[in-house]
Amino acid sequence: MSTTKVLRGGLFLTFEGTEGSGKTTQLERLVARLEAEGYSVARTVEPGGTEIGRQIRRILLDAKNSGLDATAELLLYFASRAQNVAEVIRPGLGAGRAVVCDRFTDSTLVYQGAGRNLGAETVMQLHAIACGELEPHITVYLDIDLETGLARARERNRATASDETRMDDQTIDFHRRVRAAYLDLAARARHRFRVIDASGTMDEVAAAVWSAVEPALESRQHV
Ligand code: TMP
Repeated sequence: MSTTKVLRGGLFLTFEGTEGSGKTTQLERLVARLEAEGYSVARTVEPGGTEIGRQIRRILLDAKNSGLDATAELLLYFASRAQNVAEVIRPGLGAGRAVVCDRFTDSTLVYQGAGRNLGAETVMQLHAIACGELEPHITVYLDIDLETGLARARERNRATASDETRMDDQTIDFHRRVRAAYLDLAARARHRFRVIDASGTMDEVAAAVWSAVEPALESRQHV
């Protein structure tokens, strides 16, 4: 019988990227690989990740809510996050799991802090309230040029008839600020950011993601 590999203190992995970077597909590939290697994994997403978070996600992403105030938007992202931290992330880490989260506070820094010009300081004050000192061990950032990414995202929205388009529908200037802020953040938080070129094939990107994550697994593992 195979034993589950336990990670000392857990391992908190987050995925970040602009629209159409292939982030969710790559996250799924990583989760499958981790499970195949014998790790216990908790997969989650922001906004969402819990039953309460999913209700908040509907408000945030519904294209009908174009009147949502920027500060109300910011607080809703953190409301979803506080629930996720309490219900999924901290318990998962406490149980020695790899907790893999599709977006986290870095998204708020770049979309609300930079995209909406609300500022990093305000975002980090709310982070302290919602998450305490919690910080991802590794953040995989999938970088893609804006035009390719937005075209992919719009195609996906059309194909799935998604009404979760409120954020994708922002102006090109907004998305430009978001990508510049990600690159800036990645340069300032080198200890945890792993920037991966998302323009390669799915297999190439998956291999790069695994290479970025594997060393952190090895250093924390105890069977
Ligand atoms: P996704 O399913 O493509 O990741 O969509 C989530 C959208 O929400 C995406 O456009 C980014 C946006 N977002 C923020 O603006 N702030 C946040 O804090 C988070 C987590 C997501």
